Amino acid sequence: MMPFACDVLTLFPEMFNAVTQYGVTGKAWKNRIFELTTWNPRDFSHNSHRTVDDSPYGGGPGMVMMAEPLEEAIMQAKSRQQGLGITHPEVVYLSPQGEKLTHATVKELSLGSGLIFVCGRYEGVDERLIVRQVDREISIGDYVLSGGEIAAMVLIDAIVRQIPDVLGDPESANQDSFVNGLLDYPHYTRPEIYRGDQVPEILMSGNHAHIQRWRLQQSLGRTWSRRPDLLETKLAHGMTTEEQKLLEEYKQSHKTR
Ligand code: ADE
Repeated sequence: MMPFACDVLTLFPEMFNAVTQYGVTGKAWKNRIFELTTWNPRDFSHNSHRTVDDSPYGGGPGMVMMAEPLEEAIMQAKSRQQGLGITHPEVVYLSPQGEKLTHATVKELSLGSGLIFVCGRYEGVDERLIVRQVDREISIGDYVLSGGEIAAMVLIDAIVRQIPDVLGDPESANQDSFVNGLLDYPHYTRPEIYRGDQVPEILMSGNHAHIQRWRLQQSLGRTWSRRPDLLETKLAHGMTTEEQKLLEEYKQSHKTR
């Protein structure tokens, strides 16, 4: 299969070693499951100081990234991807103003062949660049980072782990939290007693059906207590009688009396 093509516009290309050199994504990069090409907007600057930012019209603090160097870098990235046979490469701009990232978006993006990521620095980028070139503006959460790089890496990591064969066990991506709309169940490993704390009895039973039921109940219960918003969505999509029963049982046993 063709590698998933990532073209990244960034003033700090070295930051992306974090995804290409380490862990699951590092291995996927080595195995050419995805590839990553960086474009530094400074290389597309039109002045001798390699300037890519300027002060905001209307005043205010900080600087704004100029449209021209970014647009030229996007053109290069697009023609590179078109050369790979990707006919309409999608351009993603990472910013707190974007749609909030969810598993559904990750899944959708992972089904494509490639993406062009625009990472902003300073106060942001000239709005005309966004209007002209950006297909999708994505936020990784309601807080402000110093730049789009870490957000782009979050997205790349999440996308890459959805590509078939990236995770060793073919089931592990489907067992991830959020795939079934629920939080993950708790995990335990050796020793059986850690500083006086026992591993839940049921996990030592060897009864796979009972373990599966318990894990589902833990997922439901933790989602109910920690993320009621997720449980509402799950309820709206319909819960099985079994799931409803398991959750009721969890609620009963976790009542504070
Ligand atoms: N850039 C700065 N903050 C961000 C956020 N929360 N999500 C995506 N990109 C960002």
